Amino acid sequence: MEQRTIGRTGRQLSVVGLGTWQLGADWGAVDEDAALALLDAAVASGVTFFDTADVYGDGRSERLIGRFLRELGPDRGKGMLVATKMGRRADPHEPAAFTLDNFRAWNDRSRENLGVDTLDLVQLHCPPTPVFSSDAVYDALDTLVDEKRIAAYGVSVETCDEALAAIARPNVASVQIILNPFRRKPLERVLPAAREAGVGIIARVPLASGLLSGRYRNDTVFAADDHRTYNRQGEAFDVGETFSGVDYATGVAAAQEFAALAPEGATSAQTALRWIVQQPGVTTVIPGARNTEQVRGNAAAAQLPALSDATLTKIAELYDSRIRAQVHHRW
Ligand SMILES: NC(=O)c1ccc[n+]([C@@H]2O[C@H](COP(=O)([O-])OP(=O)(O)OC[C@H]3O[C@@H](n4cnc5c(N)ncnc54)[C@H](OP(=O)(O)O)[C@@H]3O)[C@@H](O)[C@H]2O)c1
Repeated sequence: MEQRTIGRTGRQLSVVGLGTWQLGADWGAVDEDAALALLDAAVASGVTFFDTADVYGDGRSERLIGRFLRELGPDRGKGMLVATKMGRRADPHEPAAFTLDNFRAWNDRSRENLGVDTLDLVQLHCPPTPVFSSDAVYDALDTLVDEKRIAAYGVSVETCDEALAAIARPNVASVQIILNPFRRKPLERVLPAAREAGVGIIARVPLASGLLSGRYRNDTVFAADDHRTYNRQGEAFDVGETFSGVDYATGVAAAQEFAALAPEGATSAQTALRWIVQQPGVTTVIPGARNTEQVRGNAAAAQLPALSDATLTKIAELYDSRIRAQVHHRW
């Protein structure tokens, strides 16, 4: 699989990675054997990048990845890069919690869960907006690098303005942001600024929580413990994380139109992933998956030919006519 350098770190990673929120919680149950099989299918398909967080299943996602990489061994695991996140354990979730002491405590827990001395990449996990402009926060992150607790740091953001604030800092290696055919605003300023500064872009929620697979219908039922049931109006966390913030009925209809644009030989999900990886400035895309078939299909998107200009235009028109009014001004 194509490898790209993740800004400022010099490290290489696969252009299609794997998001592992599904291995923790909030998506209904994924049992341990299924989770390990899914990680194995990813590595066998050429994926060298896993994205996790200390709060996914209260550490379950990190622990499963740690165990998987230990069992994989140094030969097959060579070149793997794991990004985790910290900050969502803060209670209350306020800027005052983003201190060096808390960072050290959160890192220690992640290092133990993942079974490593130095974490490859740690991202601030959508902290409150003022955190992105705090000199003390970036100083503390630099200290963690000096202490070799982390090799590099980045941020995960909700809005384009937060991304731009982080990109302006000298040692931020990566920005994780929602980017997909239903979330195009980062193309305007964030991707060009990241390219200019040499900051990596990790594109998350690339399938708009599965909508862009074109499989869902208005009467599709998600599990009670799946955020696609309980966070549709943002009851538990930012509504932009569920279906990219698009109202469900609008999203289902637009996703069917999107699926009709898939080139021959590509699924709707693969078309969405291909669209993302060909946007200048993107380093990697991290689809979440609930089974090995999805993992393999998503990895295969990296081999597809680039989408044609005609298809790109139709995808842009679909966004303008169906989606833009709901999301463009918000994030
Ligand atoms: N704040 C943050 O930093 C933050 C927030 C959100 C996500 N993330 C990261 O980003 C990753 C990706 O985002 P996400 O998981 O929220 O959303 P996503 O990748 O847009 O959607 C994942 C869902 O898409 C469906 N899917 C995946 N591959 C498919 C395929 N080949 N064909 C058909 N359907 C497919 C599955 O739905 P079914 O379950 O219906 O099968 C899967 O659960 C997460 O795992 C996490 O690592 C970070």
